[in-house]
Amino acid sequence: MKSRLEWRRARVIETSQPAEDVRMVTFAVEGLRGGFDPGSHSNIKVLINGAPAIRTYTVIPSAPGTLAIAVKLHPNSRGGSAYIWTLQPGDETEMTEPENRFELSWRASHYLLIAGGVGVTPIYGMAQALAARGQSMRMIYGAKNRSLMAFAGELQALLGERLACFSQDDGQAMDLKAEFAALPEDGEAYICGPLGLLEAAKSLWQQSGRPMSRLRYEVFGDNGRFAEQEFSVRVAGLERSVAVRADQTMLDALSEAGVPMIFDCRRGECGLCAVSILSSTGEIDHRDVFFSDAERRENPRICACVSRLCGGELVIDTGYRQEKAA
Ligand code: FES
Repeated sequence: MKSRLEWRRARVIETSQPAEDVRMVTFAVEGLRGGFDPGSHSNIKVLINGAPAIRTYTVIPSAPGTLAIAVKLHPNSRGGSAYIWTLQPGDETEMTEPENRFELSWRASHYLLIAGGVGVTPIYGMAQALAARGQSMRMIYGAKNRSLMAFAGELQALLGERLACFSQDDGQAMDLKAEFAALPEDGEAYICGPLGLLEAAKSLWQQSGRPMSRLRYEVFGDNGRFAEQEFSVRVAGLERSVAVRADQTMLDALSEAGVPMIFDCRRGECGLCAVSILSSTGEIDHRDVFFSDAERRENPRICACVSRLCGGELVIDTGYRQEKAA
C-alpha cells in the first residue's frame, strides 16, 4: 500500500461551472509545495453516502497556494463527483500534494493535444504551459455539444487557430488518423477522454508505426461501458465472499474486508492492483488502460481500482497476498 501521500488541509474558496455538467472548485491549501504542474492530480477526501472515501482528480491551473479541480457530474458516478458538486465556499476537506503521471516530455518539436469531454482537464493545463513556452502545438477538442466543452472560450482565446472543436450534435468528428499523419516524426500526442476515444487513438497510433512512447494518455476510471452494479467477489483460498456496492470500488471493498491489496494510481494506469480472474458469472467492465486486449486474453486479470463486474460473482486469485491476521 502506498504511504507517501502528504495530506493538506483544504478549504473551498470558489466554485464555478465552466460547462453545463462540470463544476470547478478552488481550494486554499495549507502548506502546499510547488506550483502548478500540467497533467498532475491530487487525491481528495470525500464523503460517499456519509462514509469517508478517497477520490483522485486532475488539478487545473490556479493561483499559488491553491488547487483547483473541475469535475463532471457523472451519471455512473460512484459518488465522488456528487460530493464535489455539493461543496460550497468555506467547506473543508483534505487533499494531497499533486503527483504527476501524465507529464509533458518537453522533447518534441510539435505537440498534438486531444481532449474528449471532461478529459479537457489535464489538457487545458498542458495547452497553457505549451503556449506560455511558445511550443509548436495543436489541440483538438470533442464533446457532445459546445455547452459541454469546459474552458472552450479560454482555450479559443489562448490558441486561436491552433484549436479545433468538434460537436457530435453537429455531426462533427475528430479525424485522428489524419491528425497523426500530419505530425512530424518526433511529434507527440497527449490524450485524455473516454475509454472508446483512447482505445481508438491507441490503435491508430500503433497502425501509424509511431513509437508508443510518443503517445501519452490518461483516462477516467469511472468511465466504463456499463453503469455500476453491485456484485460479489470471492478470493481463492478465503472462505468468504465480499460484496462490492455500486458506489464502491472492488479495491476499497476488498481492503475494507481485510484483504491486503497493493495499489498506487487508483486510476487503472499502473497495474499494481491487478488480480487474476479465475471465473465470473457476469460481464467484466474493464476500465483500465494498463492491459491490452491481447494481454487480457492471454492472462485474464482485472484492475481492482477501476474495473468491475456487471452483477454476479467474480472469483479472483490475489497471488501472494494473504488475509490480514486477526
Ligand atoms: S492502482 Fe494503479 S491500476 Fe489500480
